[in-house]
Amino acid sequence: MSNKSKEINKEMTVWGVSFQMLLFLIPFIILFVFIHFYFYPAFLLPINGIIMIIIGLCLIIIGLIIYFKTLFVINKAYNSGKLVTTGTFAYVRHPLYSGFILFIIPGIVCLFNSWILFFIPLFYYIIFKIMIKKEEDYCIKKFGEEYIDYKMRVNAIFPKIKKYNKHTMIKESVDYGNWVPRNLLYPILVIMLVLFIISIFPLFLIVRIILWVLTAIFFLAFLYLFYLYYQFSKNDKELQYKIWDLVIEKLLWNGIGKALDIGTGNGALAIRLAKNHPESKLYGIDYWGKGWNYSKLICERNAKIEGVAGDIIFQKASASNLPFNDGEFDAIVSNFVFHEVRDIKDKTKVLKESFRVLKKGGVFALQDTFKNKKKFGTFDSLIKKIKNWNVQEINFENLIEKIEIPKLIKSEFNKAVVLYGIK
Ligand SMILES: C[S@@+](CC[C@H](N)C(=O)[O-])C[C@H]1O[C@@H](n2cnc3c(N)ncnc32)[C@H](O)[C@@H]1O
Repeated sequence: MSNKSKEINKEMTVWGVSFQMLLFLIPFIILFVFIHFYFYPAFLLPINGIIMIIIGLCLIIIGLIIYFKTLFVINKAYNSGKLVTTGTFAYVRHPLYSGFILFIIPGIVCLFNSWILFFIPLFYYIIFKIMIKKEEDYCIKKFGEEYIDYKMRVNAIFPKIKKYNKHTMIKESVDYGNWVPRNLLYPILVIMLVLFIISIFPLFLIVRIILWVLTAIFFLAFLYLFYLYYQFSKNDKELQYKIWDLVIEKLLWNGIGKALDIGTGNGALAIRLAKNHPESKLYGIDYWGKGWNYSKLICERNAKIEGVAGDIIFQKASASNLPFNDGEFDAIVSNFVFHEVRDIKDKTKVLKESFRVLKKGGVFALQDTFKNKKKFGTFDSLIKKIKNWNVQEINFENLIEKIEIPKLIKSEFNKAVVLYGIK
């Protein structure tokens, strides 16, 4: 094992975050077991107990086979410092967790024949989805692009029928991410389920009604976000692609010189520009915070797949304090970033910072919720401000007038505007 590997290994033991997960899960196990026995036989399933026992035992046996098969290689894999993608790992990224969540725990639950206990594997799954990021980030740090490829093609928990084969890496596809971070969905689901479960207890009717109303609100919020997530992912990310294309279309650039993509995410705009303008030099910055599923490594991987790896530099930095000189760039682009910046309250200051690095005569195309008064002040005052930063020409286009957006999520984009022009 290399020294670098040894160093990285110190950050996480072979058990990953499994003990932390267990710590979160134990209160839920106690709660559901308590509910099951306290209200017994209220939650029994209307299925013959023998059938449930047979199903349960089969699940437990499958789970144990997966568990022991994995246990056999996991220590070796950890100590070798190499990414293991064979055996159970060829079908699923986290076979130990998968064994417990899909087989062993549901199997044990079947023996009790009680539907309320099925909340235990469900909660385990949600806790897993929230906490596994730490383990995944560790693997990305340790194995780099190799792990990203593996992650893109093998599911975390639900096994794929087709075995992973790292030698087919050539057929890689790019990953430009989703503007709705998945990490946002799971906490909402947990809160909703917890509220619902508390409402099962024999509380005052008024308290139960309040809990049901709150459950319904969280449920609707979850459905809405899930729908939004789905809209951004479906048809090969069609909607996201259309918006990126619009930003690029509005940039009146001849492709000579240097351009910067502020808050690049997984590099979508920077890579598009690099492909359109082979003579140019591109920069993409982002703070790649924990709340998102974006990273510098994925940017570099995407650039490599798209054949522009040598033309773009991706750099970790905050949009509020760009590590570039005044007037360094011939063009700047950005998409849905300024409103996200947390380190400055006044988002117009972040915008001003972007214009600082743009040279006189340089071009810009910046898309964001610029009509959101709370974040940017009134739109008129924003345009006036920008003009005062020595900007010669500024135009704008409302996103919903340029791009067809499904009705249900249209309101999300009401305040979205592409600002473009020349400094
Ligand atoms: C909705 S995503 C958009 C990503 C990308 N522009 C795209 O269109 O796919 C918002 C991005 O803003 C980035 N971001 C948030 N705060 C930032 C900051 N202070 N500096 C740089 N990037 C930031 C996030 O990391 C994330 O990549």
